[in-house]
Amino acid sequence: MSRIAESQAELTMEYDRLKELKAFDDTKAGVKGLVDSGIVEIPRIFIRPSDELVEELTQGKSTLHCPVIDFSGIEVQDHRKKVVDEIREASEKWGFFQLINHGIPSSVSEGMIDGIRKFHEQDAELKKKYYSRDIKSGRVRYESNFDLYQSKTANWRDTLNISLLHSSHIEPEEIPAVCRNEIVEYINHVTKLGETIFSILSEALGLKPDHLKDMECTKGKSVVCHYYPACPQPELTLGAANHTDPAFLTVLLQDQIGGLQVLHNNQWIDVKPVSQGLVVNIGEALQILSNDKFVSANHRVLANGVGPRMSVACFFNGSFAQPKIYGPIKDLISEENPLLFKEFTVTDYIAKFMSRPLGTSALDLFRL
Ligand code: OGA
Ligand code: NI
Repeated sequence: MSRIAESQAELTMEYDRLKELKAFDDTKAGVKGLVDSGIVEIPRIFIRPSDELVEELTQGKSTLHCPVIDFSGIEVQDHRKKVVDEIREASEKWGFFQLINHGIPSSVSEGMIDGIRKFHEQDAELKKKYYSRDIKSGRVRYESNFDLYQSKTANWRDTLNISLLHSSHIEPEEIPAVCRNEIVEYINHVTKLGETIFSILSEALGLKPDHLKDMECTKGKSVVCHYYPACPQPELTLGAANHTDPAFLTVLLQDQIGGLQVLHNNQWIDVKPVSQGLVVNIGEALQILSNDKFVSANHRVLANGVGPRMSVACFFNGSFAQPKIYGPIKDLISEENPLLFKEFTVTDYIAKFMSRPLGTSALDLFRL
């Protein structure tokens, strides 16, 4: 085929893809809608490029485990010191860890997972009125693939997004009734836990416990409730593409299905569900504040033949109030640790992240 014919073929494919993306988007029924329609083969907008699929086959298996940290007894000085040390090490080496005995009652976590299931499994017509990809359209949005029109491959998941970016108060009536009480209760608990984790992280950086809170890192949350339907061809797609989180910190509640993986020493490691555990990961913004002491690790979610899988990511994004400027913490900069990043505002950082396909880190845009 001549070069011109080749690029024309590519153009036609691009055109078809856009048409197919639009048709999928217009259903406002997400991936769940596809599964409900009885498909046995996944639409091509979800199929990963062949070089990625081949690379997947050659990946070795690692026997490493993501650290599990017991949070009980952190009020007691000796215990607290041990937890601070464990969290420092995990944040430096992995950027990822699981917490057990974190204080969120299992009834609250289980209720939340159940609420998310109810939202996604309710009548499609009722869900449609929340479907939007316009972040200005309201504080509660349901969508599939926030980066649908930017990414090369669509992900096998749908999402209910609750924005607490501009104010931590949300009128319960704004939240869909099927999961209202569960979400309100979970947000209260995860907010408190987040503050405790930030105090431990501050200490792990050698700072006063309130340092990160005083920088308003605990503000500006979004609660992102994912639903990954069972997939008829799980080896051809992903639940969530390889990415790092742009936030300061993510606290993730996952059910017992599994599929989350973290990239560690260039190998994908399963973040296996731990009974009543929560996954915590360092985001790009905290990597910048810590001047590269803590790392934001790449992670992804495999698609699964069984399911649905549900998870809830609470992103602590930081203050959206202008003109709050963030940058590497001055106390951490010295001759041996020279400044590595420029300053940023959260609004600018998140806008950059949202305008690119999932997996394109904004971190390097701010590296000096
Ligand atoms: C995310 C994320 C993982 C999961 O929302 O950023 O990585 O298990 N989610 O859903
Ligand atoms: Ni993530």
